[in-house]
Amino acid sequence: MQILVTGGLGYIGSHTSVLLLEKGYDIVVVDDLSNSNIEVLDNIFKITSKKPAFEKIDLKDKKAVSKLFQDYTFDGIIHFAAHKSVNESVNYPEKYFSNNVGSLENIIDEIKLLENPINFIFSSSCTVYGQADLMPIDESFPLKEAESPYGQSKRQCEEVLKSLHDSGHSFKNITLRYFNPIGAHPSALIGELPLGIPENLVPYITQTAIGKRECLTVFGNDYETADGTCVRDYIHIMDLAEVHITCLEKLISSNDDSLFKVYNVGTGKGTSVLELIHIFENVNDIKLNYKIGERRKGDVVTAYADTSKIKEELNWSTKNSLKNALKSAWNWELNLNKDE
Ligand code: UFG
Repeated sequence: MQILVTGGLGYIGSHTSVLLLEKGYDIVVVDDLSNSNIEVLDNIFKITSKKPAFEKIDLKDKKAVSKLFQDYTFDGIIHFAAHKSVNESVNYPEKYFSNNVGSLENIIDEIKLLENPINFIFSSSCTVYGQADLMPIDESFPLKEAESPYGQSKRQCEEVLKSLHDSGHSFKNITLRYFNPIGAHPSALIGELPLGIPENLVPYITQTAIGKRECLTVFGNDYETADGTCVRDYIHIMDLAEVHITCLEKLISSNDDSLFKVYNVGTGKGTSVLELIHIFENVNDIKLNYKIGERRKGDVVTAYADTSKIKEELNWSTKNSLKNALKSAWNWELNLNKDE
């Protein structure tokens, strides 16, 4: 089986690529290297002893996408490739719509030409729920006006996929709404590689702990939560990678040529920023330099998943603990800095 993995050198893509190779799938990794590093390919090889086919392609380039589908025959597609900086998207919204939505549309144009229904997994985000009125969030919750163009672009992509499904075209789709992925592969050979100053909490924590950043700012401690800081559902990247294998197997084995499903992917447990900091300090035996600062614009207060749908329908749930995730994140940071 040959699987196209777009954005396969990125954070979630690289971990999923490793598992796909370990499961015996052939993969074609497509990445434009705009927010990733070609060395990740070598590290995937170090972990798996397998070298995937690699194509450096900007998926906005329609001709290049057509050529990709002429050069290879795919049994499945996992579409990770997207810009993902919430901040950047506010300053450059067009970049987010043209890349995130445009790339998907180019791929869909090719899917429409295929004879057999393709197995397609799409990376979405819990951001499509905005600030939900109740917790935990289940898949039937209304999609709210997104807080950022990034979030809006994910929502538009979901709509594009729904339109394709509604048009009666045969294709099998699972859309995954990720909560907050953290951590790294146990080998510490691949992990999250933020460009510049990290926006996300865990890379900021590890960079502060190693001394690259002076101090972590906790964005607000006056929210209506138990300790006043925001609550999120942090999922180990290895669990998140694994769910793609489960979904792919489901798609491949299904006889329903128009299977169309949306699942939350999280642990179902909410953790506050302060709780997360303290767990990081305890499991890694480190004192973290942090201070309380202003709220960050656009942050939702609380978001954690109701995970019952994916558990019931795919018999899937997370296996790794938050402690493990925070240990692996620290090991990854140590490994990144071992030569410095
Ligand atoms: N936080 C801090 N200090 C930091 C960074 C983050 O206190 O330096 C806090 C945030 O305020 C938030 C929590 O840590 O309360 C988690 O923040 P992240 O930036 O790590 O994650 P978000 O929940 O904001 O972002 C995630 C995904 C995005 C997605 C978004 C939707 O990373 O892709 O959820 O809300 F768009």
